[in-house]
Amino acid sequence: MGYPIPKEARLQGVFQPMRFEATVEECIVTHGEIPKDLSGGFYRTGPTWKRPTKQGSNGILSMDGMVQGLILDNGRADFRNRWIRTPKYLLEEQHGRGMFEYSDGDFGDWRVWGYGDVKRDKYTTGVPQGTNNVNVFPFAGQIVASGEQGGPPIALDPITLETAGIVNWSSKLGSGIHDKAAFGDAAFTAHPKWDHETGLLYGWSYRDTKPYVTLHCVSPDGGVDSRELWDAPYNTVAHDIWLTEDYIVMPFQPMVIDSKRITEQQTSVFGWEPDLPIILAVIPRNDIHGSIRWITTDLEPQYVMHTMSANTSGSTLTLDAPIFNRPPFPFEQDFAAGDDVALFFSIAKSALGRWTIDLETGASKSEFLSDRPSELPKVDERFYGKPYRFGFQVGGVNKRTGMSMNSLVVTDMKTGSDQEYVIRTDQPAGVLEATFAPRSTSSAEGDGYIIVPVSWWAENRGEYLIFDTDDITQGPVTRIELPFRLGWTAHGHWADFR
Ligand SMILES: [Fe+2]
Repeated sequence: MGYPIPKEARLQGVFQPMRFEATVEECIVTHGEIPKDLSGGFYRTGPTWKRPTKQGSNGILSMDGMVQGLILDNGRADFRNRWIRTPKYLLEEQHGRGMFEYSDGDFGDWRVWGYGDVKRDKYTTGVPQGTNNVNVFPFAGQIVASGEQGGPPIALDPITLETAGIVNWSSKLGSGIHDKAAFGDAAFTAHPKWDHETGLLYGWSYRDTKPYVTLHCVSPDGGVDSRELWDAPYNTVAHDIWLTEDYIVMPFQPMVIDSKRITEQQTSVFGWEPDLPIILAVIPRNDIHGSIRWITTDLEPQYVMHTMSANTSGSTLTLDAPIFNRPPFPFEQDFAAGDDVALFFSIAKSALGRWTIDLETGASKSEFLSDRPSELPKVDERFYGKPYRFGFQVGGVNKRTGMSMNSLVVTDMKTGSDQEYVIRTDQPAGVLEATFAPRSTSSAEGDGYIIVPVSWWAENRGEYLIFDTDDITQGPVTRIELPFRLGWTAHGHWADFR
């Protein structure tokens, strides 16, 4: 059946859904040339509204994942996007309607995430509620889409983007906040880190009951080594970590998750409890079963949503990330029943910062490295878990209580100097997360290209901009155009074919 697009912030502007699957072979290049030395795929995923849920709600985490892939090879680009055929998606396709009823689906306002427990019926019993709509990353020769919560990771074909199926290691993973719906149901972070040489994937699952976090180290052969963090202090939203040469550093921050908040307090599954301390779990990376150092910091309430990377000097850890004044999500402290949702950067600001931790004394310090609003930090991912120098972000300008993103920023973390290229001024457009691709497999850290997807949604067109890291201030060396509005995506990665 047909529906109008609901008039909700979740589905307006840059969040208008791209509801069709497209194949664009030999994409039009409107400026420059696609570097011939680039061969690989740039993949992203995001929540894409197909129809309302059974309750008529439109929670962003109940929207089906849509993967976008730009394949570059020998100067040519091919674009595809495909629905991720999760068990939920397939069930709803079979019936032609929303089949799931969520415990947070009846609020009709900002509290709706589509993240509450599903009220199971004869159709949905045994079907994971995951939508795999937050990130897609390369692993063991596959492309894997993850939604962080609600369902297991799903493998996709790197060229056709067809859904291959749930990864064969999912039954070894922990659960999220929901009971597992079936054998092989699981949760897995949207922001795993990996070791470029060994292929080992460092991930986790988290929940609102003890043990709040389970670490998972996944081998390319599908083996999973797991550790439950029974000492974890509270039910944080464990969205990202830092990986260093010696440690996995997981921040416990006072953005909490609790399904009982929905049922007992009639509020959002997410809460902000700034009286809780920021506590770091410092876990030995090469022995996740070893002794964990818990560092209770005296950092003021602030919030890191995504990490850039970390360096180590003697016993000092420098943990780099854009630091928010508060999480970029609505909470009951400042939103009332009936208010529309405010998504991401409209209600919070972040700028590049650094937490410095003295592992001998446990002392901690927080500082900002820049005044410029920025988020969506990325690095040369061949150097995950290693010392690093270059960070890439989307930059912006202050806008009311939040920020408006408009530029690409490259920062030399050694000298603190940065380069910026402003991609848009006042045109309505989504400047999405930038991703680095190396010039060659042996090029130095940070030497290569940065690909930035831009959705010129008001003009119904999309673009991929390719910058050369030699000097981004000269603007993109290549502009690849798509003849339609590029759907909004949260995160993605580059997979090298060379
Ligand atoms: Fe994220």
